[in-house]
Amino acid sequence: MNRLLGLYTKRSRPFFLESNVSLLFSKTTLGPLVLQNRLVMSPMTRNRAIGNVPNELMARYYAQRASAGLIITEGTSPSPNGLGYARIPGSFSAAQVAGWRLVTDAVRAAGDARMFMQLMHCGRIAHPLNLPSGARVLGPSAVAAVGEMYTDAEGMKPNAMPAAMTEAEIKAAIEEFAQAARNAVAAGFDGVELHGANGYLIEQFFRPTSNLRTDRYGGPVENRARFVLETAAAVIKAIGEDKVGIRLSPFGVFNDMPTYDAMEADYTYLASQLNAAGVAYIHLVDHSSMGAPTVPESMKATFRNVFKRTLILSGGYDAARAESDLAARKCDLIAVARMFLANPDLVARWKSGAAENAPDYDTFYTPGPKGYTDYPALA
Ligand SMILES: Cc1cc2nc3c(=O)[nH]c(=O)nc-3n(C[C@H](O)[C@H](O)[C@H](O)COP(=O)(O)O)c2cc1C
Repeated sequence: MNRLLGLYTKRSRPFFLESNVSLLFSKTTLGPLVLQNRLVMSPMTRNRAIGNVPNELMARYYAQRASAGLIITEGTSPSPNGLGYARIPGSFSAAQVAGWRLVTDAVRAAGDARMFMQLMHCGRIAHPLNLPSGARVLGPSAVAAVGEMYTDAEGMKPNAMPAAMTEAEIKAAIEEFAQAARNAVAAGFDGVELHGANGYLIEQFFRPTSNLRTDRYGGPVENRARFVLETAAAVIKAIGEDKVGIRLSPFGVFNDMPTYDAMEADYTYLASQLNAAGVAYIHLVDHSSMGAPTVPESMKATFRNVFKRTLILSGGYDAARAESDLAARKCDLIAVARMFLANPDLVARWKSGAAENAPDYDTFYTPGPKGYTDYPALA
């Protein structure tokens, strides 16, 4: 490895381009799973799940990308209460499990990608018009997120004011995560990723600006971390520690989550607690390529040191930077979103150096196949 690193840093071009030795495209393991390469398809909400149920179109989209090492699905709600956005899938009904089975079967038939379902409870990033009847917008505290959200019925609407969850509702939500994880495994997934990033329910509990509680789920970091750690423990108990990863966005500001002084210390604490909890991987988000603040290198290095299992880095990667960060041992896997969205055969393109399709931002979240399953693969 050091030899690889030394060679890499002495050359101006990525090492693998000159030698055909690539870390990115070499096999590795994730717990007991063998991954065919180290390229992960990042979770991407695509809003094609009509009625919140996965379908054949989604199966085709994921199957087109079966050459990834690991596919992490779009954010999938563990609860009717967590379906904040229009047309996102769930993992709480029999129809959803059957729909996800179409997806995992199609991916298995098409290639060797392993698959984790991302469990995303939107919490306060929601509007009642997007929720099924009887569902409620919940959060740690009655603090609405500044910002708007799209609804099919009435277009853009301000994010709703959440109801502060009672302890009984917190317990119920944790059990929903555990059951959604069991359902994911029943649908053929290799595991689940808890969405602890980007301003959704888990992060809403962890951050002091969205969590104003004065009970044992609010206040000092040990209390604000209780929801995520109890959720991780419940999901691990339900499906096993090798099957549970988590996504985090230290220094992320998306969805009205401002930075604050103790951020680095808080996330260092969380990294050590998640290490002790036994989760299989931590997946860090860095959205600086999308205009967000940069995640300090010191924060990434802390995660690398404190967390002893698989670390995934994501955000703005191309093949050269992916090889370079893998060679420098900054992480074990590299996750890519927009380039995977636009290039179903991203692995083949990056291996051969072929040109990439550009993503069409206008069709990221629109229903139907356009901008979804019609990106061309190489001949
Ligand atoms: C269309 C779209 C949908 C996304 N949906 C999710 C999501 O459901 N869950 C999540 O954790 N991140 C989501 N993200 C963020 C990506 O996973 C990724 O972190 C981000 O796009 C930066 O990676 P990139 O530079 O490779 O695109 C989404 C990004 C895009 C472009």
